[in-house]
Amino acid sequence: MSELSFGPFELADEEATIKLGQRLAPLAKAGRCIFLVGPLGAGKTTLVRSLLRSLGHIGAVRSPTYNLMENYQLGELSLLHLDLYRLGDPEEVEYLGLREMLDDSCLLVEWPDRGIGFLPAADVVIHLGYRKAGRTAHLEIKNGLSIDLEAEFKNIS
Ligand SMILES: Nc1ncnc2c1ncn2[C@@H]1O[C@H](COP(=O)(O)OP(=O)(O)O)[C@@H](O)[C@H]1O
Ligand SMILES: [Mg+2]
Repeated sequence: MSELSFGPFELADEEATIKLGQRLAPLAKAGRCIFLVGPLGAGKTTLVRSLLRSLGHIGAVRSPTYNLMENYQLGELSLLHLDLYRLGDPEEVEYLGLREMLDDSCLLVEWPDRGIGFLPAADVVIHLGYRKAGRTAHLEIKNGLSIDLEAEFKNIS
């Protein structure tokens, strides 16, 4: 499967992470699976919150660390925000029924490595890490499912 990489993007402060979330928001579409990878505090939830807000969500975006999944209905699009950090057994992911929901939803998954083997394949992987006082990000576009993604990302970058 071919793969494309974008970045690194230097995110000097929280505002920069928020701006990246706004830019990436158009990539959120039904049937897509987006992984957010990086250590605790790297800005994964901040990015998801920004993405949801730029798609029209008003109000809180809580980190789904304890309840695993939050569902946001934004017009036609359903967004499922997952955080698998506290997942005991990857098999628990099976009971969420993600594959069936993916048809009409976009999945945004923090700590996807904890659910390995039980998650749909990622279309986009957003890697976040620490860099001095700020953060850094890079994107992988997995090309196997949607060749259009590359063009889409070029349009918004
Ligand atoms: N680019 C950045 N530079 C500095 N701090 C940031 C940046 N992006 C996010 N933060 C801050 O990092 C903290 C942790 O962010 P969070 O999104 O909860 O991380 P994660 O979900 O990866 O654990 C928050 O206080 C957030 O404001
Ligand atoms: Mg988080």
